[in-house]
Amino acid sequence: MSLLKALLRFSAVCSVGLSVAFAADDGRPAAARYETRNQPSRDGIGKVYFGREISHVMGHQAANWLERPERETEERTDLLLEALALKPGEIVADIGAGSGYFSWRMAQKVGEQGVVYAVDIQQQMLDILMSQMNRRKVGAIVKPVLGTVQDPKLPAAGVDTILLVDVYHEFDFPYEMTRAMVAALKRGGRLVLVEYRGEDPDVPIKPLHKMTVAQVQKEMSVHPIRLEKVLKVLPRQHIIVFRKD
Ligand SMILES: C[S@@+](CC[C@H](N)C(=O)[O-])C[C@H]1O[C@@H](n2cnc3c(N)ncnc32)[C@H](O)[C@@H]1O
Repeated sequence: MSLLKALLRFSAVCSVGLSVAFAADDGRPAAARYETRNQPSRDGIGKVYFGREISHVMGHQAANWLERPERETEERTDLLLEALALKPGEIVADIGAGSGYFSWRMAQKVGEQGVVYAVDIQQQMLDILMSQMNRRKVGAIVKPVLGTVQDPKLPAAGVDTILLVDVYHEFDFPYEMTRAMVAALKRGGRLVLVEYRGEDPDVPIKPLHKMTVAQVQKEMSVHPIRLEKVLKVLPRQHIIVFRKD
C-alpha cells in the first residue's frame, strides 16, 4: 500500500514537472532563439529577438537622469503608481530598479507588511538605490537583489506584482529573464511592462528604447501568461499587464 502511494506521488510530481517545463518552453534550442547582426546599430548590441534588436544597458553613470525632477510631469509617474493599485502587504519586484525611483514609491504603497525586491545587474545601481531607500526610511521594506542577465533571483512563486519600467528592451536574454520572472510570480500574479510607445513617432526616445504593443505580445506569446490589458493613461509610455493564471 505504501509502495503504491509512493508510486502515485512520484507520477504526480513527474506530470507537474513536465507540464511546467512544456508550458514555459518555446520548443527551440537556446541558441536558435537569437540572431546576430554583423553590424550592430548605434544603440544596439547586434543581438536580435523576434526581429527586434536589443538595446545597450543604461550604465549606472546615468542614475541622476532617472531621478530628474521633471520626470514626474514628463512621464506622469504618479498615474502609473495609481494604475498599479498596489495593496498594503503585497510582495512586489522592481526589475531593473536602477536608482530606485519606483522601489521607493512602491514601498510606500505596500507598507511594512509588504516587500519590494529591487533587482538590478549593476551593483553600483543597488548601492545608489539602498542609500536612497535608507535616506527615505524604507530600507526595511526594500530588499536589494543582484541579478544576472538571465536570472532575477526571485523566490519561486512568491511575488504578486513584477514591474519593469523602461527595462525589458535592454534584457540581453529576454526569453530566459521572462521565463524566470513568470516562475517567480504567484498564480494570479501580474507582470507589468512599461515601455515608451514604439507606435508613436512623436515620443522623443531612440527607436531601440521604445517598444510596440504588438512586439511585446509576440515576445510574451511563448510564455504561460496572458495579456490582460493595455493602459494608455501615460503621456509617452504604455502600461502592458500580463497575468499568470
Ligand atoms: C533605463 S534603467 C530604468 C531604471 C528604473 N526602472 C526606472 O525607471 O527608474 C534600466 C535598468 O535596468 C537594469 N537592467 C538591465 N538588464 C537587466 C537584467 N537582465 N536584470 C535586471 N536589471 C537589468 C540596468 O542595469 C538599469 O539599471
